[in-house]
Amino acid sequence: MPGMVHLSFLLPLLLSLALNLVSFATATGEDQFAYSGFSGSNLTLDGTAKITPDGVLELTNHTVHLKGHAFYPTPWRFRKSPNEVVQSFSITFVFGMVPVYSDKCTDGMTFLISPTKDFSGAQTSQYLGLLNKTSDGKASNHIFAVELDSSQNTEFNDIDDNHIGIDINNLTSFVAESAGFYDDKNGIFKTLSLVSRKAMQVWVDYNGEATQINVTLAPLRVAKPSRPLLSATYNLSTVLEDPSYIGFSASTGPINSLYCVLGWSLGINRPAPSIDITKLPKLPRVGPKPRSKVLEIILPIATAAFILLVGTTLILLVRRRKRYAEIREDWEAEFGPHRFSYKDLFHATDGFKNKNLLGLGGFGKVYKGVLPVSKLEVAVKRVSHESKQGIKEFVSEIVSIGRLRHRNLVQLLGYCRRKGELLLVYDYMSNGSLDKYLHCEEDRPTLDWAQRFQIIKCVASGLFYLHERWEKVVLHRDIKASNVLLDSEMNGRLGDFGLARLYDHGTDPQTTHVVGTMGYLAPELGRTGKATPLTDVYAFGIFILEVTCGQRPINRLAEASSQMLIDWVVEHWHKGSLTYTLDSRLQGNYSADEVCLALNLGLLCAHPFSNARPTMRQVIQYLNGETPLPELMPTNLSYSMLALMHNEGFDQYTSLPSTVGSSSMTSSLTSGR
Ligand SMILES: *[C@@H]1O[C@H](CO)[C@@H](O)[C@H](O)[C@H]1NC(C)=O
Ligand SMILES: *[C@@H]1O[C@H](CO)[C@@H](O)[C@H](O)[C@H]1NC(C)=O
Ligand SMILES: *[C@@H]1O[C@H](CO)[C@@H](O)[C@H](O)[C@H]1NC(C)=O
Ligand SMILES: *[C@@H]1O[C@H](CO)[C@@H](O)[C@H](O)[C@H]1NC(C)=O
Ligand SMILES: *[C@@H]1O[C@H](CO)[C@@H](O)[C@H](O)[C@H]1NC(C)=O
Ligand SMILES: *[C@@H]1O[C@H](CO)[C@@H](O)[C@H](O)[C@H]1NC(C)=O
Ligand SMILES: *[C@@H]1O[C@H](CO)[C@@H](O)[C@H](O)[C@H]1NC(C)=O
Ligand SMILES: *[C@@H]1O[C@H](CO)[C@@H](O)[C@H](O)[C@H]1NC(C)=O
Ligand SMILES: *[C@@H]1O[C@H](CO)[C@@H](O)[C@H](O)[C@H]1NC(C)=O
Repeated sequence: MPGMVHLSFLLPLLLSLALNLVSFATATGEDQFAYSGFSGSNLTLDGTAKITPDGVLELTNHTVHLKGHAFYPTPWRFRKSPNEVVQSFSITFVFGMVPVYSDKCTDGMTFLISPTKDFSGAQTSQYLGLLNKTSDGKASNHIFAVELDSSQNTEFNDIDDNHIGIDINNLTSFVAESAGFYDDKNGIFKTLSLVSRKAMQVWVDYNGEATQINVTLAPLRVAKPSRPLLSATYNLSTVLEDPSYIGFSASTGPINSLYCVLGWSLGINRPAPSIDITKLPKLPRVGPKPRSKVLEIILPIATAAFILLVGTTLILLVRRRKRYAEIREDWEAEFGPHRFSYKDLFHATDGFKNKNLLGLGGFGKVYKGVLPVSKLEVAVKRVSHESKQGIKEFVSEIVSIGRLRHRNLVQLLGYCRRKGELLLVYDYMSNGSLDKYLHCEEDRPTLDWAQRFQIIKCVASGLFYLHERWEKVVLHRDIKASNVLLDSEMNGRLGDFGLARLYDHGTDPQTTHVVGTMGYLAPELGRTGKATPLTDVYAFGIFILEVTCGQRPINRLAEASSQMLIDWVVEHWHKGSLTYTLDSRLQGNYSADEVCLALNLGLLCAHPFSNARPTMRQVIQYLNGETPLPELMPTNLSYSMLALMHNEGFDQYTSLPSTVGSSSMTSSLTSGR
């Protein structure tokens, strides 16, 4: 073929003009391009993506929960002709992840091949700007991607928060490995930290005949290791469409992170042209500035001034030290990324001023804050903790709880420790806690039924995740309206999970601490003192009734027989007048089916016998209408909750005046009574 001869003759020349080569070289089946820096390039960008004057492709900016994409402007053909198989190809790119504060990035980035450049429907955070909840897993996506993931999302079976995976139409990676490389010298595996603020290079090689995909990672300036990090067989002919676009996606989650690409090259039917490392731009420097060199500059000017300055500085430093003093111990080193400095939290909350006080939670005061560098809005909870015992276990638990990610849980970002005090940093929820809407003055606007039902479903889904979807069972132990927070879209998110454990550590083994709030405590807790998933289900049942009836679980002002919300609802259930218990503020505007489902499900969950209660998995099925709710027989709920609780040893509670309403309490019951 004469055309072919011409082109192979021209190739060396065209290598440097790679951009122009593309459009007419396609027919030969040999295409390539190379970028060392992106200045003057013609990539298609969207979302947060931009090219800096230095030539760095920044896929995200310093803002949380956003996404960005960059594509080679024209699409590519991966087959020689329409009915043939996808040819071999190789791509390589140099990337860098830059945490903006702390040492952590969320969520991650991908290299991708897709039939479309339109990713407007893709979600941010764990969806990496690649897919969304509905499109995830669909064969119609025709997407091949290599994810560089700096967060662990259990819903996608992520192995850790520092891994590379091959994704075929699906965010659950087909194969994945922790980031690292096999050293050519001795074959030893060396781990790399994706978020180390250092540039690294990735190679993606596909062999069209063997349908083999290799992905290799190495620090910049280390030659491509001969043993790949990932090697898998997948026939991309069954995935890719022609023509397809190639490019990158990235998204941020709750932590400000910068995902950058510095260089990129592609070769179809040939190795990817090498990237000229000497021409690559530098990764941007963000976050805390290096220490100022004030002292060094002043020294030559005047020794006297210097001494004075040092003296003053020392005094200031000592005072500052005291003000911002924290406790840090060696074992905490591994939790580094989750550790906030007290100084940052102090400034974020204006010195914990009362005007920033959001509320008094069960475990301490909660303040609103804005973190200094990132401007991220957070809620900071101050929990007093006197006992030194068990603090290590508790902190590791807090950190592992920080790894829980679910849209119906309030995200825990990290912690800080001072003498006698722990500070926990959470995502800020702009619409506050649910109880303010439920138990407000009559004339204030309250939630309509659709919102309430949605919130019930949200809380169910968050609790189901805690109970069954994570690597270990996490009990909430204090479900109630004041622990449900509303985000800007009025979705319910469960807060304070796992905190109850604080009271388990370092206490006298002779006493069992019942943690929770009066009115939400399952009867068997009084007997066994042992929290289980079913005691959470009980509290959730009371919560459903609280939301549906718009009343607190214990109403001290009511007549004795109907002080307990559950008894009052059961009474109406016996009389067949269940809907009488509905919140009158709904003014008759509700779905009768949903209301009926909610009330009956509330009663079932709050069943006095724990083995009659459903699991959260079943609760979700009932709420989604996938399984009909089992019929409650009159015999199943034959006696008053109150009477039962008296029998179970709760008598001292029901007469305690301070236990009414949402006040949380911890009470010691001596075991063996
Ligand atoms: C990041 O991008 C978003 C949307 O493109 C924009 O609204 C926001 O202001 C940007 N933030 C910064 C810090 O540039
Ligand atoms: C950039 O790419 C677009 C196609 O996406 C094309 O229309 C435009 O002419 C290109 N511009 C340059 C300067 O190459
Ligand atoms: C999910 O993504 C697909 C494909 O991009 C899009 O068509 C759909 O509208 C998106 N769905 C939502 C709910 O955004
Ligand atoms: C995504 O892939 C995983 C593992 O290959 C599979 O278990 C899961 O069902 C897939 N998800 C969808 C929505 O197809
Ligand atoms: C993938 O790596 C293996 C092992 O080093 C090698 O034998 C194979 O040729 C590689 N395949 C591709 C497509 O690069
Ligand atoms: C890959 O898939 C294509 C199209 O389905 C098929 O023609 C080809 O034989 C497959 N290759 C291998 C090695 O299985
Ligand atoms: C009834 O509630 C729905 C939402 O739940 C709302 O859209 C509608 O306006 C309400 N109707 C009346 C008459 O209040
Ligand atoms: C919830 O928050 C959003 C955004 O912050 C606000 O627009 C909305 O009015 C709030 N809703 C209520 C009921 O306060
Ligand atoms: C209620 O009791 C009846 C028989 O007494 C039993 O068949 C049914 O399964 C029970 N339902 C629940 C939810 O416990």
